[in-house]
Amino acid sequence: MAIFIDSSDPKEIKDLYAWGVLSGVTTNPLIIAKEAPDADLGERIREILAVSWGDVSVELTTETEKEMIDEAAAYHEWDKDRITIKVPFSETGLRVLHRLVKKGVKTNVTCLMAMNQAYLAALAGATYVSIFSGRVRDMGYDVRPVIANTRDVIDREGLDSKIIVGSMRHLMDVNEALECGAHVPTITPPILRKMVWNPRTESTIEEFNTAWRNRGTKK
Ligand code: E4P
Repeated sequence: MAIFIDSSDPKEIKDLYAWGVLSGVTTNPLIIAKEAPDADLGERIREILAVSWGDVSVELTTETEKEMIDEAAAYHEWDKDRITIKVPFSETGLRVLHRLVKKGVKTNVTCLMAMNQAYLAALAGATYVSIFSGRVRDMGYDVRPVIANTRDVIDREGLDSKIIVGSMRHLMDVNEALECGAHVPTITPPILRKMVWNPRTESTIEEFNTAWRNRGTKK
């Protein structure tokens, strides 16, 4: 099991990696456009690589097979062991995925909304298949069977792909993804911080610390 951080902010990533619970980073063009619209992509990703460990997913932004292969080759150069090429799922995406898999490049097939899509990506040899929890729910569907059925077919057929569940909107989405068999929830910094917080934990610690500060003052 693993948890990835869904962010492109090197400061946040460094801060949260210090907890010792993270083992990878996922980014996408929307996250980077929002968090750092003026940043140079290569510089931003190198900063992320420097403050983290494990796989760092970088998504392709071009749309033809040739452009996508060239773009992937450029990203792969940044760190051949850790850069994981995020391939948007489509017919072209599958062709690109197949070529990257043959070259031994790590891949993360993204924007998956259904088990049948994830199954095709897993059959083609994706390192990761990314199911989008919040976006499936936005369409009015239950994402839990999508995750559970994908896990079943991957296990039953002995496929190597790991299921990432992203597009988390609430803390409960993380719990559900884990219960349904996700290998890796990828979590935004605000939701990861919510996983720590519990009012009863805080009040208990406060009670203990107050008792310690006041020890010996009352008979
Ligand atoms: C992660 O890999 C995804 O790109 C990300 O979680 C998508 O999240 P969104 O649906 O909030 O854009």
